[in-house]
Amino acid sequence: MLTGGVFPARTPRNALIRYVLAITLTLIVLLVCHSLNPFVGDNVTFIALTPVVAFVAWYWGLGESLLTVLLALGGTMYWPIPQHSLSVPSLAQSAGALAFIFTSAVIVALGEARRRENEKLRNAQGELESRVQERTAELDSANQKLRRLTSRLLELQDEERRRIARELHDSIGQMLAAVSMNLSAARADIDRLTKTTATLTDSEDLVQQMCKEVRTISHLLHPPLLDEAGLASALPWYTEGFARRSKINVNLDCPDDFGRIPREMETAVFRLVQECLTNIHRHSGSPTAKIRLHRSNHEVVIQVEDKGQGIPSEKLGSMTSAGTPGVGITGMKERVRQLGGTLEISSDHSGTKIVARLPISETSSNEDLSSTQDASSSAAA
Ligand SMILES: Nc1ncnc2c1ncn2[C@@H]1O[C@H](COP(=O)(O)OP(=O)(O)OP(=O)(O)O)[C@@H](O)[C@H]1O
Ligand SMILES: [Mg+2]
Repeated sequence: MLTGGVFPARTPRNALIRYVLAITLTLIVLLVCHSLNPFVGDNVTFIALTPVVAFVAWYWGLGESLLTVLLALGGTMYWPIPQHSLSVPSLAQSAGALAFIFTSAVIVALGEARRRENEKLRNAQGELESRVQERTAELDSANQKLRRLTSRLLELQDEERRRIARELHDSIGQMLAAVSMNLSAARADIDRLTKTTATLTDSEDLVQQMCKEVRTISHLLHPPLLDEAGLASALPWYTEGFARRSKINVNLDCPDDFGRIPREMETAVFRLVQECLTNIHRHSGSPTAKIRLHRSNHEVVIQVEDKGQGIPSEKLGSMTSAGTPGVGITGMKERVRQLGGTLEISSDHSGTKIVARLPISETSSNEDLSSTQDASSSAAA
């Protein structure tokens, strides 16, 4: 059995086989040389055995080489024994033997050196191969670990993705579904609230209008300004509002120094102007109205005039007689009568003119005036 390596290509692994082969090879050469001995001589045997020694020394080892040399030396010099009779070798034979020994020694030394070098190289190669195998094993192990790690990573990644998916579905998904439902409910609420808001806005407007109306009605029923500041302030406030609402151009002529008059008289004058303007708006069709207010030491004169269609003659006739058709003019007459004054109504197709005269008695005037001023000052406070 020969090795298949690079260095000892012809080296059997078993030492016994090598020894047997070395002996066999030597004996074959000796046998051949002995057969040819009569023709070639002894020294040729040494020469023929030298390659055998070289071969064995080169390829097989020191023991095999030495055995080959000894066997070749003995076989050449003493075989067959009867021929040489173990006699002392001749000089030529000794010289050939010495040359063979020397040559074989050199060859064996070289072969041993080469064999040792080969051994070193073989050992180095073996070590290198074992290192390579170790590294390969380590690399395989690392690769397996890497594959296991990669596999584990993929498993973890899948698990993590499953967990996130489950969380997304169970947690955020449910919350989103709830938010979606809330949004739907809110949308429905908003739809309802939109209608409700419109209703509320409408109601709010109505309430604000009602507040204004109530305030206006309240002020019209009894203007605070009348008690606080008198006719000079209350009449401009009222006529401006009336003109704005009725679109009738109202011309008020009331002196700034009109001053205060007794409270009942101020109230009567204010109510009289209110009723006259209301009648102008309702019955006259006049685009304008003119109010003139002046006072003297002994009376207050109120004059309200329009350029409307006038009071129908039958109603005007009944006014001058005992009865009157409406409450308005009857009330005016009554107020004026209570204050001791007079009321004149003149009307034709070009308009109507009402003049009221209210006397101011000096005593009552002073008393009422002082009480009015007290009231206004207390109201102002
Ligand atoms: N400025 C005016 N121009 C034309 N007609 C008038 C004028 N003032 C009053 N009249 C007529 O005189 C009538 C009586 O007026 P009066 O104020 O007494 O009653 P009214 O205005 O009809 O009702 P109310 O009792 O609400 O005042 C009115 O119905 C109207 O026909
Ligand atoms: Mg009236």
